Amino acid sequence: MKTTWRAARRRRRGVAGGLLVAGTAATARRPPVVVAVILLVTVAAACRQDMHDQPKYQPFERNPFFADQRASRPLVPGVVARGHLDADQAFYTGTGPSGPVTANPLGSTRDVLLRGRERYDIYCSPCHDRVGSGEGMIVLRGFKQPPTFHSERVRGVPDGYLFHVITNGFGAMASYASQISARDRWAIIAYIRALQLSQHATLADVPESERTTLGAAP
Ligand code: HEC
Repeated sequence: MKTTWRAARRRRRGVAGGLLVAGTAATARRPPVVVAVILLVTVAAACRQDMHDQPKYQPFERNPFFADQRASRPLVPGVVARGHLDADQAFYTGTGPSGPVTANPLGSTRDVLLRGRERYDIYCSPCHDRVGSGEGMIVLRGFKQPPTFHSERVRGVPDGYLFHVITNGFGAMASYASQISARDRWAIIAYIRALQLSQHATLADVPESERTTLGAAP
């Protein structure tokens, strides 16, 4: 609506401007009444305000109609924004009835890991680096160094704890709740587990059929 109105106004202005310029050269040849009518029509048209001045309230404006004088009304209790029911508490907070979630609800399929790697590389690697040892570019430029993901302690924390850290932040690290959806947070966690395994695996973790491809003795 707005653009259309603006475009129309621009067009009107263009026409008005053109007529006035042309008018100066052609006034001598046109009867004065015609010139006056054209001027009147264009000037009157330019004065239209249309939707410009709407009888509406801006956010946080005062409105004496309500007892609390606020034009912006509080949400009705229990209201849920469309698409945000978020009823699965374990999925959306990382903590279930029996404490932090221990099993990633997305599992660790190839798609989940690929998505997790992509999001991790975007949001986490600037500090935690691509492998998770905590020497990302921002750290090399002076930001506080995060702990490595490859310590016994971080390998042992439940998935729900990692979810909590991404969601709420941790010390010097900010919350990523507004940038990373809950689903992507779980995907990142699956990928962090893959990173941890990549730095802490033994030959016994590799399926027997794959061992020869690693150059190991069969
Ligand atoms: C701007 C830098 C930065 C980014 C980006 C960042 N972190 Fe951190 N992270 C830190 C720092 C610094 C700490 C240590 C905070 C402290 O001890 O004060 C930390 C700590 C952590 C910890 C360790 C918690 C513990 O118990 O020791 C985890 C897990 C973690 N971050 C995960 C992530 C994940 C996942 C992402 C991406 C979604 C991420 N971080 C993005 C800087 C960052």
